[in-house]
Amino acid sequence: MEAMDTTANPHPRKINNSYEDEEERKHFQRIVSAFRYYKPHSLQRVKKTESYLLSLPQHHQKLLSKYREHLQEVKRCIENNDQIIKLIIKDVAHIFENVCPTTAQVDSTLTPRPIMADQEKVQATIKQLVRDWSTEGTEERKACYQPIIDEILYQFPLEHCTPSDVHILVPGAGLGRLAFEIAKRGYTCQGNEFSLFMLFASNFVLNKCRDVNSYQVYPWVHQYMNNLKPEHQTQAVCFPDVSPSLPGITQFSMTAGDFLEVYTEDNHWDCVATCFFIDCANNVVQFIETIYKILKPGGVWINLGPLLYHFSDLPNEESIEPSYDAIRDVILGFGFQLEKEKTQVKTRYAQNVNSMLQCEYNSVYFVCRKPREHIDSVNYTHNESNGAQEQEN
Ligand SMILES: C[S@@+](CC[C@H](N)C(=O)[O-])C[C@H]1O[C@@H](n2cnc3c(N)ncnc32)[C@H](O)[C@@H]1O
Repeated sequence: MEAMDTTANPHPRKINNSYEDEEERKHFQRIVSAFRYYKPHSLQRVKKTESYLLSLPQHHQKLLSKYREHLQEVKRCIENNDQIIKLIIKDVAHIFENVCPTTAQVDSTLTPRPIMADQEKVQATIKQLVRDWSTEGTEERKACYQPIIDEILYQFPLEHCTPSDVHILVPGAGLGRLAFEIAKRGYTCQGNEFSLFMLFASNFVLNKCRDVNSYQVYPWVHQYMNNLKPEHQTQAVCFPDVSPSLPGITQFSMTAGDFLEVYTEDNHWDCVATCFFIDCANNVVQFIETIYKILKPGGVWINLGPLLYHFSDLPNEESIEPSYDAIRDVILGFGFQLEKEKTQVKTRYAQNVNSMLQCEYNSVYFVCRKPREHIDSVNYTHNESNGAQEQEN
């Protein structure tokens, strides 16, 4: 997928591009179908349990009568989620500023065969609403986004700069909350995302939701395990916790497309902020190289996240999985000066706080700077003392 300006852009920058490419069109249709297939797929899962339950001895069934009622409630939650999904995919043919709606028209007669992995992505998108746009996600955002926002405010103090002159890029923006928070503070901020699951949902939140907590989802309804109480599975979460509308003067945009393909202009950005992103690469070195190139001399890269290499062990996917130590060598090798570094940063990702299973990352946080003076980038020859001297643990 190539660059397309999409959501939340008060002054859309039209990029010459189209959705006419057949592959792209099929991909678009596939994601819409995945959202459409959410309800039958999810209900099928409950029905399987129900029919097994009905096959159990009568006295077992009697003992499980509350559980049977609970499954009714699960079905109600799925129906409700489906109503939100219908809103998310309504008018998606129009979300790209630079794509003729007719070429992205959703063809209801075309129903590509549903892919199971896509259903997990639909469920993950619903959980991402909690992380980015709910009160329940506040703690997670405080741990993941706040250190990045604080560093931006430190690097580009509002009282000493014209924030709209500071250009900040957030690749792998998910549902856009980090980019939104940066733009809200007056900086010119662009989020970039290549997943249509995320783009459809962020378009809904950023461009269609106006009133605080006006919608609700049941994000944990697909978690059949590790529930202490039935209501932990069927708990509703309201969104958005804040109104996503920003004043017209705010410079906030989202682009759709692969970060590596969209951002080809060298020395452009004052800051690149990555959160839970660099491990999404087949080749993480290519991500780091691109970040280095697109930053202005003197520009900063702020990163926070783990190294859950997304392509690792996936069939038909290539992947390298360097440790953080090795990544650090790469960063310094390109010529970055490491200014701050912290390990063991406790972070979570779309976590159900009530679950008996809790997952926590000891993330790494760092801030590094592209030197003001140009470094010959042919071999990115690295002076060992560079960076290490600057490091602040
Ligand atoms: C783990 S999520 C993190 C989302 C968000 N930053 C957060 O912290 O909640 C990583 C995101 O990066 C996106 N992504 C991965 N590779 C990308 C690429 N090459 N270009 C643009 N987005 C990408 C994924 O679709 C996904 O939404």
